[in-house]
Amino acid sequence: MNVIYADENGLKTVRTLALQTWPDTFKNILSPEQIDYMLEWMYSANALREQFENGIQFILAEDNGEYYGFAAYEFHYKNELRTKIHKIYILPDSQGKGVGKLLIDFISNDAKKRTNDILTLNVNRYNKAIGFYEKLGFKTMYAEDIDIGKGFLMEDYVMEKAL
Ligand SMILES: CC(C)(COP(=O)(O)OP(=O)(O)OC[C@H]1O[C@@H](n2cnc3c(N)ncnc32)[C@H](O)[C@@H]1OP(=O)(O)O)[C@@H](O)C(=O)NCCC(=O)NCCS
Repeated sequence: MNVIYADENGLKTVRTLALQTWPDTFKNILSPEQIDYMLEWMYSANALREQFENGIQFILAEDNGEYYGFAAYEFHYKNELRTKIHKIYILPDSQGKGVGKLLIDFISNDAKKRTNDILTLNVNRYNKAIGFYEKLGFKTMYAEDIDIGKGFLMEDYVMEKAL
């Protein structure tokens, strides 16, 4: 399995992977309406291009021309020496095989090269991914509810890991 940077063209792959992963991830956590709303907000072609142009790094897990997952992250988040992981999603059939850890390791190395010494992320409080992050050494810092409009709420934990 390789980790490669997605260029603007690779954003189409990111969108395809998100559409294949989100319903499975959130079917027991969010309403179908909220899933559709958040996918449009964060994963429309325009939204992804805007994130890319604003310096968000996109990476893909690739093997033999097939794609298994992606992540997106931002150095110097809020002008601090921290890297924010905005997204990390592995295709349902490819979870539990080390791909997520591979992407987090890649991000950790990239962050350290930029002298960032903390990884930070938001995770839904009902998402079993919390167990994955804990396994990799992340700690829960605090809970955060974020109003995202249209009556929808993100009920998150903020988790961090020192590098
Ligand atoms: C969460 C996710 C990114 C983890 O990636 P993954 O490829 O499935 O996980 P890995 O196989 O790399 O797991 C690495 C380690 O964490 C452990 N782990 C994985 N998921 C776990 C969980 N839910 N609870 C506890 N431990 C877990 C693995 O057993 C493995 O441990 P090991 O190194 O001792 O073998 C992936 O499952 C996923 O995309 N989930 C759906 C989308 C999602 O929720 N994304 C996060 C949004 S904030």
